[in-house]
Amino acid sequence: MIHMRVGWAITGAGHLLDESVEILEKIAKNNKVTVFLSNAGEEVLKMYGLYERVTGLTGGYYNELVLDSDQRFSYPISGRLSLGKYDLLIVSPATSNTVAKIVHGISDTLITNSVAQAGKGNVKTLIVPVDLESGDVKTILPSKLELERCADCDVCIASNSCEQGAIIPKIEINLSKCIGCGKCKDYCPYNAISEGKIVTIHMREVDIKNSHKLVLIEGIDVLKDPKELLSYF
Ligand SMILES: Cc1cc2nc3c(=O)[nH]c(=O)nc-3n(C[C@H](O)[C@H](O)[C@H](O)COP(=O)(O)O)c2cc1C
Repeated sequence: MIHMRVGWAITGAGHLLDESVEILEKIAKNNKVTVFLSNAGEEVLKMYGLYERVTGLTGGYYNELVLDSDQRFSYPISGRLSLGKYDLLIVSPATSNTVAKIVHGISDTLITNSVAQAGKGNVKTLIVPVDLESGDVKTILPSKLELERCADCDVCIASNSCEQGAIIPKIEINLSKCIGCGKCKDYCPYNAISEGKIVTIHMREVDIKNSHKLVLIEGIDVLKDPKELLSYF
C-alpha cells in the first residue's frame, strides 16, 4: 500500500550520500517518491557509483526522476510543491551551498526553488545538512589515483580498461567522467587506485551557522542523520 507522496532532493555532497540513498531505498518501497537532483547531485551520485541505484527507484507519475540539468529557469515541476501535492519534501544530503542559499531566501536551482515552493504550499520540509557540528568529520572520497603508488607503467591497464576514459595516467581520475564503477581498482597491479578512502575534513563555522539558521524558517525540520527521516513515516 502506498502511504505518502514524497519529494526527495539530493544535492552534490559526498558526505552522508550513501546513508541517504540507503534510507531513500527503504522509503521508496512503501511511498511514491519523486527524486530531484541538483546538477552537482547528479554528478556526485555518479562519482560514488550510486546513480543507477537512485534512478532505478524512479518511473511513473509522482515517481519521476527530475534533473536540474533537464530544466530551464522557472522550474514548473516545483509548482506541485506550492500546490501542496506532496506530503513531505526531503533534502538529504544538503550541501553547504544549498543550505546557504535556502537560509538567504535564494531559490535559483531546482532544489532551492523546491524548498521555497514547499514553504508556500505548506509542505513540511526535512533537511539533513552535511555541515551541522563544529570540528573535524570523517568523510568518504570517490575513486582516486594514489600517485605515490603509481608505477608509471608504459601502458596503463587501468586507464585502458576505463570505458569512460576517466583516468589520466600518472595524473588523476577525471571525476566528471567517472561513474564510480570501481573496475579500474582491480586492473591496476600496483593498487594505485583507491575507492571509498576515508579522509578528515574541517567544518567551516559559516556553514554550521547557516545550517542552524534553517530551523528558523517555518515548515523546515533539521535532522542530523538520514536514519532520523524514518520516524516521519
Ligand atoms: C566528490 C565531491 C564530493 C563533495 N562533497 C561535498 C560535501 O560533502 N559537502 C558539500 O557541501 N559540498 C560537497 N561537494 C561540493 C558541491 O558538490 C558543490 O559545492 C556544488 O556546487 C553544490 O551544488 P548544489 O548545492 O546545487 O548541489 C563535493 C564535490 C565533489 C566533487
